[in-house]
Amino acid sequence: MSEAAQIDPAAGGAAKPPLVQARAVTRILPGLVPTTLVHDIDLSVRDNEFVAITGPSGSGKSSLLYLLGLLDVPSSGEVKINGRATAPMHEEERAFTRLSTIGFVFQFHFLLPEFSARDNVMLPMRALGRLSARDMAERAEALLAALGLAEHAAKRPDQLSGGQRQRVAVARALANAPPLILADEPTGSLDSKSSEQVFDILRDLVDRHGKTVVAVTHDLTLAARMDRRIELRDGGIVADDGADDNWQQQS
Ligand SMILES: Nc1ncnc2c1ncn2[C@@H]1O[C@H](COP(=O)(O)OP(=O)(O)OP(=O)(O)O)[C@@H](O)[C@H]1O
Ligand SMILES: [Mg+2]
Repeated sequence: MSEAAQIDPAAGGAAKPPLVQARAVTRILPGLVPTTLVHDIDLSVRDNEFVAITGPSGSGKSSLLYLLGLLDVPSSGEVKINGRATAPMHEEERAFTRLSTIGFVFQFHFLLPEFSARDNVMLPMRALGRLSARDMAERAEALLAALGLAEHAAKRPDQLSGGQRQRVAVARALANAPPLILADEPTGSLDSKSSEQVFDILRDLVDRHGKTVVAVTHDLTLAARMDRRIELRDGGIVADDGADDNWQQQS
């Protein structure tokens, strides 16, 4: 965020709340031997940030991403989206909030194999139900074209390369124009050239389209090229070079 934006936040007074906030978030899987996935997570992510989540395997990176993305629910603590508590939301409102605010990119694209790239990109639009069928198809084509896949819209995932599939997954994440993209090892299964291409797309989303991207990565070189790094160890945050404030001041 620019200094000017910090000094003079939203016009009309109250500062805009963070896009996503976690306060004292702990997730424990119940069972004979309960497993703590993450514990005591405090963080806030604002508009237009490019954040890396790093840490060893098993440190809770994916678990944290799912909690921030409302795909999982904390055992205790709170996740707020745009300043709104998510715990009291009914399933329908939660799904709406997720669909309209958050796009996901996973390490393995999770595209539906029997659907074309275009139809895969249309899925979140169908789920949200804002656009007509024709507008959905047009938007899907435009997103694919913007990601260099104009001539691949009709192809199924098995007719595309790994890098192309991951770009389709990015297009799908952008389907409902969410302000927040959560990515779990988005370049983890790609060769270096495709990895670079996908990284450049994520960077561009932040720099030119005002999106916020939070990406889990094992790759510290990649993390170094992002704007903020949050490091996890044993389910807790051990470093965050962009933590700028605390929960009390933001809510
Ligand atoms: N469904 C589950 N049942 C039991 N334990 C689980 C489950 N999901 C995750 N865990 C455990 O929770 C911890 C955090 O897992 P998580 O997948 O969030 O780690 P991660 O940092 O994403 O690891 P990786 O880099 O390998 O993807 C690990 O110890 C993992 O074994
Ligand atoms: Mg993981």
